Amino acid sequence: MLDWYGPNKRDLPWRNTNDPYIIWLSEVILQQTRVAQGLPYFEKFLQNYPKVQDLAQAPDEEVMRLWQGLGYYSRARNLHQCAKDIVEIHGGEFPGSYKELLKLKGVGSYTAAAISSFAFGEAAAVVDGNVFRVLSRYFGIETDIASPAGKREFETLANQIIPISAPGEFNQSIMEFGSLQCKPKNPNCLDCPLMEGCFAFNKEMVDQLPFKAKK
Ligand code: ADE
Repeated sequence: MLDWYGPNKRDLPWRNTNDPYIIWLSEVILQQTRVAQGLPYFEKFLQNYPKVQDLAQAPDEEVMRLWQGLGYYSRARNLHQCAKDIVEIHGGEFPGSYKELLKLKGVGSYTAAAISSFAFGEAAAVVDGNVFRVLSRYFGIETDIASPAGKREFETLANQIIPISAPGEFNQSIMEFGSLQCKPKNPNCLDCPLMEGCFAFNKEMVDQLPFKAKK
């Protein structure tokens, strides 16, 4: 995965930093949003609010106006409240661990893992749709990804395989691999570096995994 990542990764602006504010901002914007759509919002927010203090001091209406078009407006309200809490409760510094990050407004397990691994090198595994897909196919896991038990199972597995020598890089690589190589439809399995060990490829189950129960 890491060997694949180096030559294949996209050059995205939030990957060239270990500033937790910039990483947090990018991850909140990218939740439920594609990279191409989120990118201009990320640039705009960072231009207007280069530091968490700038965002904390901004008027509500201004933040909501900059967010317009991204949808899921509770994300913008949580973003603003979290920035204020960072300044008022945490002295302007993001907490440095997964466990403490998880207590912040609007920060769930995914975002806490992203910030703690990318900014602080903590071995906390991210689990998003890309990670579900890569792990379920490679390891042949047929548990419903929409169930709480499924989420727990994938989180446990991801935390078992994340290398402590490069947790942030591994997290980026598995998401990028899911996004560019192990795609939902018509993945290019014949040109995949993981094909030999891939359960789904070997059992011809690539189009059946990940499994998601119909509601
Ligand atoms: N989507 C969500 N987080 C991402 C990241 N860090 N890089 C690329 N796409 C993402």
